[in-house]
Amino acid sequence: MSSFVRLAALLVFSRVLLAAPAASDCTGTISSLDDVDDAVKCTTVNINSFTVPAGETFNLDLADGTTVNMQGDVTFAVKDWDGPLFQVSGKSITFNGNGHTFDGNGPSYWDGLGGNGGVTKPAPMMKIKISGTYTNVKVLNSPARVYSVSNPAPLTMSNLVIDDSAGDAPNSKSDGKPAGHNTDGFDVSTNDLIIENSTIHNQDDCLAINKGTNIVFQGNTCIGGHGISIGSISSDVTVSGIVIQNNNVQNNDQALRIKTKASATDSTVTNVTYSGNVGTGLRQFGVLIDQSYPDTLGTPGNGVTISVGTLHLFQRPALCLTVNSDAERVAVNCGSGSCTGQHLLQILHPGTWDWSALKVTGGSAGPIVNFSGIKNFSQ
Ligand SMILES: *[C@@H]1O[C@H](CO)[C@@H](O)[C@H](O)[C@H]1NC(C)=O
Ligand SMILES: *[C@@H]1O[C@H](CO)[C@@H](O)[C@H](O)[C@H]1NC(C)=O
Ligand SMILES: *[C@@H]1O[C@H](CO)[C@@H](O)[C@H](O)[C@H]1NC(C)=O
Repeated sequence: MSSFVRLAALLVFSRVLLAAPAASDCTGTISSLDDVDDAVKCTTVNINSFTVPAGETFNLDLADGTTVNMQGDVTFAVKDWDGPLFQVSGKSITFNGNGHTFDGNGPSYWDGLGGNGGVTKPAPMMKIKISGTYTNVKVLNSPARVYSVSNPAPLTMSNLVIDDSAGDAPNSKSDGKPAGHNTDGFDVSTNDLIIENSTIHNQDDCLAINKGTNIVFQGNTCIGGHGISIGSISSDVTVSGIVIQNNNVQNNDQALRIKTKASATDSTVTNVTYSGNVGTGLRQFGVLIDQSYPDTLGTPGNGVTISVGTLHLFQRPALCLTVNSDAERVAVNCGSGSCTGQHLLQILHPGTWDWSALKVTGGSAGPIVNFSGIKNFSQ
């Protein structure tokens, strides 16, 4: 054996010895950040109540198959920095919040500006990078955006609470505007995700899907924010296989929105199903499909194809929305030729959207620009 080969063999061997040992069948307990390194060597991790020091991430890098049990509330001390405040990664994880709270101390940051100015706010507050299940967790008072989800394999998030309701009121720094801003509930650029049976009270999108396939959002209640959004869509992304059903949207700017950037190119939004959603007290629109983001109903771009079909937009059972008296029921603002039906699924009426299952009451009719294919719906 040449000395080079021997050295290489030794290096490989020592790497094996030095590699992290397989997690043990033990229970690790976390009562401060100092406990994390040892606790994640176990496949059961219990979290007690404690305060995470300012400017640090509570980072759980878990062994595959770990079960996490929250047994107390976790509070994050305040500092102007980027965050995230909490991050969890691992495969086939069972994360049981048991109703306990991650408290982001939002009121100490809120100034009505969110990510657009003022102090730097940790965002997202919660970075979820696990597959498996994540349930029964409450997030209280996020500084800005709440969940960013990038699961490595299928993940179900359920029975969650996001309570940023205190951010609805102005404070001394917010110039009369709601103090909470950019408090998106879930920002999602991922595949194979279910979010269900959760309650989100915030001041921005309840859900924002930026890209991804096979995403289900169902049985959720959205209060106070900007509704359930696909977008804003940038260049070179695909959104498809999206199911948004049986959600209850209360007092949001709109219930359902697809927003694509005016400048975006080479992207598609296809196979989106809305069914059984209800909305009340909608402040600006019932449904808004707009290709002029960041404007609202500005000059649309035509680099993104929104291609949804008869069977796939507003499926029965009916979607019932009630908008406020000064709001518009439905507004559609497409780039020239950019909104189209899904021809394969529409043998009878190619290129059309069948909206017979959409019922919107209150307010006034909104504009329908650059698309004449909406069938079985008049406003
Ligand atoms: C969500 O709610 C539905 C309807 O109540 C129920 O069938 C389902 O099991 C719930 N999911 C979870 C994970 O609790
Ligand atoms: C549309 O999306 C649903 C839900 O993800 C999926 O089951 C179905 O196969 C998709 N249909 C097409 C034509 O891609
Ligand atoms: C139709 O879309 C094109 C861009 O694709 C845009 O320039 C035009 O202004 C749109 N028409 C109207 C009436 O907005």
